[in-house]
Amino acid sequence: MRQPMVAGNWKMNGSRDFTHTLVSDLLAGGVSSCAAKVVICPPFPYLGVASDGLDGNGEVALGGQNLDVHESGAYTGEVSGAMLADMGCEYVIVGHSERRALYGEDNARVADKVRAARAAGLVPILCVGETLAEREADRTEAVVGAQLDAVIEALGVEAFDGTVVAYEPVWAIGTGRTASGEQAQAVHAFIRGRLSRHDGEVASAIRILYGGSVKPDNAAALFAEPDIDGGLIGGASLKAADFLAICNAAG
Ligand code: 13P
Repeated sequence: MRQPMVAGNWKMNGSRDFTHTLVSDLLAGGVSSCAAKVVICPPFPYLGVASDGLDGNGEVALGGQNLDVHESGAYTGEVSGAMLADMGCEYVIVGHSERRALYGEDNARVADKVRAARAAGLVPILCVGETLAEREADRTEAVVGAQLDAVIEALGVEAFDGTVVAYEPVWAIGTGRTASGEQAQAVHAFIRGRLSRHDGEVASAIRILYGGSVKPDNAAALFAEPDIDGGLIGGASLKAADFLAICNAAG
């Protein structure tokens, strides 16, 4: 049985005060007793503030939003997996569609980031998903399949062992337009099936999160689907009450 997971991707939002307040409000709202595994991913500069606010509360985990493929050295502006782990992160988002679209991360680069995350002892949350044009051209499975295959070809299916995949259709991110439970379930089942071609145990253990305009009023219907193991939440993770409601809908 897979424990559900809800991860909050704050993207490039917040401040020191915002981070302090949001973490306090989540704890006061009972996030630690949520049955789902909860992860928060603030921007890099605020990881320390979030970690201090959590104060060793092991029920809520920290994650980075990105990492570089190198361990250290002359890579100005980049952050390594080892640095994230050193700041208390257990997870890292890899290959978010915003990074693929805005920062030129292709499938090969994303696979290398999965490798770097695992080498640093972090659990990658690998994001996959199609654009609206790709969906309308009936290419969803081809696109998502290629995104998964790039990692399997580079690293082997073992790279997915104990990790997390997030299906985030690009057309649903920040648009208020959510995939229906049925649409999301179809792609989640496809993802699990693709992995199970290589390793049935890895496929049945992996958590597959849905992301894209998840809100308190649509979370329960999405999470009720058999292959949807929780959510990767953007906008609604910035409001304590909304994020708590989504966490409770998952667990
Ligand atoms: P929204 O929940 O704001 O649509 O963002 C989803 C997302 O990109 C999470 O990584």
